[in-house]
Amino acid sequence: MCGIIGYTGFEEATGKVTCGLEILEYRGYDSVGICAKGQDGIKLLKTKGRVSSLNEALSKSPIDSAFCAIGHTRWATHGAPSDTNAHPHNVGRTYLVHNGIIENYKELKAELEKGGVKFLSETDTEVGCALINKYYEEGCDPHTAILKATGFMHGSYAFAIMFEGEDNTIYAVRKGSPLIIAKGIDGYYLASDLTALLPFTKVYCSLNEGEVVRLTKDGAFIFNKGEPDWKVTNMSFESAKKGGYDHFMLKEMNEQPNAIKNALSPRIKDGLPDFSCDGIDDSFFEDIKEIHIVACGSAMHAGLLAAPIIEGLCMVPCRSYIASEYRYNPPFTQKGTLVIIVSQSGETADSLASLRYAKSQGLKTLGIVNAVETTIAREADFCAYTYAGPEIAVATTKGYTTQASLLYLFAVAMSFKKGITDKENAKSLTECLFFEAPQVVEQTLERGEEIKAIAKEIYESQSIFYIGRGLDYALSQEASLKLKEISYVHCEAYAAGELKHGTISLIERGTPVIAIATEEALFDKMDSNIKEVKSRGSHTVLICTDKMENAHACADRVFVLPRSSRIGGIFGAILAVQMIAYEVARLRGCDIDKPRNLAKSVTVE
Ligand code: AGP
Ligand code: GLU
Repeated sequence: MCGIIGYTGFEEATGKVTCGLEILEYRGYDSVGICAKGQDGIKLLKTKGRVSSLNEALSKSPIDSAFCAIGHTRWATHGAPSDTNAHPHNVGRTYLVHNGIIENYKELKAELEKGGVKFLSETDTEVGCALINKYYEEGCDPHTAILKATGFMHGSYAFAIMFEGEDNTIYAVRKGSPLIIAKGIDGYYLASDLTALLPFTKVYCSLNEGEVVRLTKDGAFIFNKGEPDWKVTNMSFESAKKGGYDHFMLKEMNEQPNAIKNALSPRIKDGLPDFSCDGIDDSFFEDIKEIHIVACGSAMHAGLLAAPIIEGLCMVPCRSYIASEYRYNPPFTQKGTLVIIVSQSGETADSLASLRYAKSQGLKTLGIVNAVETTIAREADFCAYTYAGPEIAVATTKGYTTQASLLYLFAVAMSFKKGITDKENAKSLTECLFFEAPQVVEQTLERGEEIKAIAKEIYESQSIFYIGRGLDYALSQEASLKLKEISYVHCEAYAAGELKHGTISLIERGTPVIAIATEEALFDKMDSNIKEVKSRGSHTVLICTDKMENAHACADRVFVLPRSSRIGGIFGAILAVQMIAYEVARLRGCDIDKPRNLAKSVTVE
């Protein structure tokens, strides 16, 4: 949800900022802008569109000899994407970029208007800028102006700010939205996430909530604290590049066999699950009476896939909740409710708010997070990283599979520690996850031609259905989200037995229905459900294990998954549905990595 970058140092700033913006573009891409301190003062350039549009504008009107600049790529929350609403915003002697939402901006705006401020844009951001400027122009130093102004703001923000009169200096502050600072040999940087800075440096520090920082070419200073506590990342710039693939999504799908192994290997000792590297010892499991998995979108779907496995193996109730509902319609909790927050980005606003809510209720919390050092990772009582590496495509693939595999391993760990699963079974389940799941994923990836043939048959449809039972229904929900998200084809996921209770009326001649059948015990029922839709004219595609195909080759097209256990089967099916979404989007000519209206990291509620 919008990307911020800033640089001050010894080298030209605009090239660095636009390079970082290109990397950050996955976070938001409806408008873009930069402001830089050149020879003739601070110059601002902003435009609707993508970084390429900004580069064009810069080639016509370059900002030379600028050694300090801030930039922004936007995902609009307040006001349509337009040149005027694009960031940076400028009021008086203050220029800033913002990620987040100032919830009480209307009240603040009315007050400022009474004081004579004229607003140009519809954004909440310009109001924040005007308020900081008010205190700055009244004579406060930048730090005090920022503290006074943010003291009146409700909501979330990461601000990077330049002031006239504070040459080549950037101030920044964050609350609820991510921001890191970094140190290079050529100066100092800030950004919404570390990947944007990997071409320049690996030395970084995450800012804590409420901290105000000042960057100059000579140093970084955190007010009331001093020199930042620098860390060095082991992430490489290569890992954040496309690496010869047509799309990041394709690259990330192909990374899944390794990603699953990376997620699991630190938690396997002597063939058994062991989460001690995450500070989780035997006592962790003792008092767990129930588990709530709380997350958004695909991360919530990973929870749906894991909850029945956790319940079955650990004999405690487990449910996956939508984070935006969790806080406002809170379910019953008790001493002994473990809340697991699942998030690839570690910054999703609703998931973070749910984490804070759970903590305020005194509940034990565990984060399953990919992006290292992010807010959810830092604030959860315990955190298990998925180690999937940077995920750039807006549609998550390796994020989801690593979340699901780690949750499964957690279930085996808990069941074993509680003495429900014996050592032999725990070992064999761990083996399935570590060896079989990545292998099945790999084998499915090799079947691109068959997936392309399925995609060809369905890509022109107005509406598609996914149906399944049990785990396959949970996966159908992810499959449907993936397809909608990147191909813009309407798609619904249905519990296979539920379709006939109303929705079957939407099936017309040729409507594609994709049935997922990896749950062996439910094959007969699935068979009947496929026949129900087929006899009403639908074009049926069946994704199933070899056991079902032999017995029931009932669909128009069948994709038989590699032979495997129940766990392996579901991972194969995950890949098949991701590949279908990718191929359909490709045939429809969609912008696969940056689907319309979306952004990678949703840092507003
Ligand atoms: C999935 O493809 C989506 N882009 C989206 O549903 C995503 O999973 C969701 O926004 C949660 O993000 P998080 O894992 O970063 O918290
Ligand atoms: N609320 C601001 C806007 O609409 C910032 C949005 C964001 O964080 O992406 O411009």
